[in-house]
Amino acid sequence: MKKLSEFLATCPFKGSQKSLQSIMLAVVEAAKSIHKDVNRGGLTDIYGSAGSQNIQGETQQKLDVIANDRLIEQLNISGEICLIASEENDDLILTNSPNSRYVFCTDPLDGSSNIDVNISIGTIFSVFERVSAVGSQPELADALQKGCKQILAGYVLYSTATVLVFTTGQSVSIFVYDEDIKEFISLQEDVKIPQSGKIYSCNEGNALTYTQGVQNYLANCKTKKYSARYIGSLVADFHRNMLKGGLFMYPSTEKDKNGKLRLLYECNPLAWLAEVAGGAASNGEVNILDIEPQQLHQRVPLFIGSKAMLQEALSFL
Ligand code: AHG
Ligand code: MN
Ligand code: MN
Repeated sequence: MKKLSEFLATCPFKGSQKSLQSIMLAVVEAAKSIHKDVNRGGLTDIYGSAGSQNIQGETQQKLDVIANDRLIEQLNISGEICLIASEENDDLILTNSPNSRYVFCTDPLDGSSNIDVNISIGTIFSVFERVSAVGSQPELADALQKGCKQILAGYVLYSTATVLVFTTGQSVSIFVYDEDIKEFISLQEDVKIPQSGKIYSCNEGNALTYTQGVQNYLANCKTKKYSARYIGSLVADFHRNMLKGGLFMYPSTEKDKNGKLRLLYECNPLAWLAEVAGGAASNGEVNILDIEPQQLHQRVPLFIGSKAMLQEALSFL
């Protein structure tokens, strides 16, 4: 059984092998700590709100803040990251290594509404090479890069098992956390998403405010007797669709004209994983990975998963 450290030693990467290993070590150390808290449930004081709001206008849950702090701490220790864009921080975070080459975008805890009810949640990450010159002050442009420029992206899914799924562009790999030996062990290499499927995921509570095209596509799913599956944690819905085939949608709604999901640290990393695994992702008009970000916490509509299902959905939009 191949350990993550062995896999990383030869995993193709745009930067140095050492940088990849250090960045992934930071992700894994933070993930192990979040895994421990998540698996203790209410026994550790991680339930409930932190009593603060983030820029998203959402009440931060205690575990949102804990996960964010752990990740930032580990990324500082890695010495590889010069700038962090986090869902939980209004502004960019300058790290203790301003001359490092890499930028890290993250949703430290995805699916916050599920923390207190023992349903799967996740951590999502996306890494770029900085565009500003090493030695200069890292800047917003380093974070506002198109998704097609990513060099590393992935997620951790804290569920019945804790799995790490990531890509550096050539293939998607799944590793499972073995608590006995405190290591992530290779489960599947070169994961491919089924070209089509019969599972659609969206919050149908918003359906009456979807565009007519999206509503027509939903009617089509019902006529074709697809299965509706919606967990409320993007990472969990995405992971199931990647393994079984399916389409996840968070279209624009009356409340969120640009949808709810954030381009930099939810849509881009998952869109790249989907593409490398043979699937696709769109905002309803263009490939997610081709969208030029304008703001740090920019939201875009998201349609992501099996290629044939996405094409069918787009034909209705
Ligand atoms: P986060 O907890 O990081 O804010 O993300 C929650 C997201 C995503 O995980 C999920 O798919 C979506 O919110 C669910 O939104 P609704 O509750 O509006 O359906
Ligand atoms: Mn999220
Ligand atoms: Mn989050």
